[in-house]
Amino acid sequence: MKKKSFFTGKEVEIGEGADNIIMAIESSCDETACAIVKNGREVLANVVASQIKTHAKYGGVIPEIAAREHLDTINPVIQEAFESSGLKPEQIDAFAGTVGPGLVGCLLVGLNAAKTLALIYDKPFIGINHLNGHVSANYLNTDLKPPFVALLVSGGHTQVLNVKSNSDITIMGETIDDAVGEAYDKVARLMGLPYPGGATLDKLAKEGNPHAFKLPEAKVDGYNFSFSGLKTAVLRLVKSFEGKELPINNICASFQECVSSTLVKKVKKALEETGYKQAVIAGGVAANSEIRKKMFELENLGIKVHAPEMKYCTDNAAMVASSAYFFTHTYDDPDTEVFSRVKNL
Ligand code: KG4
Ligand code: ZN
Repeated sequence: MKKKSFFTGKEVEIGEGADNIIMAIESSCDETACAIVKNGREVLANVVASQIKTHAKYGGVIPEIAAREHLDTINPVIQEAFESSGLKPEQIDAFAGTVGPGLVGCLLVGLNAAKTLALIYDKPFIGINHLNGHVSANYLNTDLKPPFVALLVSGGHTQVLNVKSNSDITIMGETIDDAVGEAYDKVARLMGLPYPGGATLDKLAKEGNPHAFKLPEAKVDGYNFSFSGLKTAVLRLVKSFEGKELPINNICASFQECVSSTLVKKVKKALEETGYKQAVIAGGVAANSEIRKKMFELENLGIKVHAPEMKYCTDNAAMVASSAYFFTHTYDDPDTEVFSRVKNL
């Protein structure tokens, strides 16, 4: 696909079949990231500066603080990406940046950095949907091609996607309340675990009995999900142990069992409906050991399952660069504005 540079309108062939080096910037939440990826799959640089320590003391991300920290970190992160790859800006074919969904003040920092680089070096700018980026993490260092069903599970989103082709993605279902990562973080918090609690909860769950407590699985139509009732059930369970020792490992394991079986059941149903023989997981919660395990069990049914390497599950810019190469995007205009909530993928 031909893309035009901002200033002179110089055309560059970008995307499948072309030989491209793309630099991408990601700053939608609390990670400032810059990566350089060749032909959508080969990672030449991947720099991620996490703000987790800053926000942990507040128990969640404070948007204004996050935006200011992105401002301090963005230039060193870009610099490091160039230095670690040994590449010069002139060697980059296009600059990509996350447009949304995310925290508006945070997105503005990365998006404007990517646009500025595109302007200075007279290259195309490609605006990326963060969720599409997460799915694209599965293209890094693999030979994956659509069609496939994608389970997207992050701190802000939970979706089952039908990826028919790189230009045709539909949302089959999504959460009607909390996202999976949000549910993990809230449940972790009510048990006194530090923010973000997802990974810690996962670790404790491995030491517990997944059948110790029967937690309610929300019955939601089609491919939609609901996790707020489950969160309340865990809250009640935790309260019932007041004054006694909390069986934290068993609660974590039972919660994890309920969440992972709900998610994978819907993926299985989506595979049956579409007839696809491939499934992928994406998003920060794709790092979860039990969700990965249950997804890979689908291979017993003849399904090929893909999961990104751990470092490409949580927010990073390599996935954004891959998305810029493979997928069709509608945010390439120089006047592209950031957005906080889901638009088309
Ligand atoms: O995709 P991501 O980095 O940010 C968003 O776009 O939201 O996802 C972050 C989320 C957090 O809620 C974090 O607790 C969760 O991913 N997470 C996990 C695990 N590792 C990260 N949740 C469950 N198990 C894990 N191992
Ligand atoms: Zn994310």
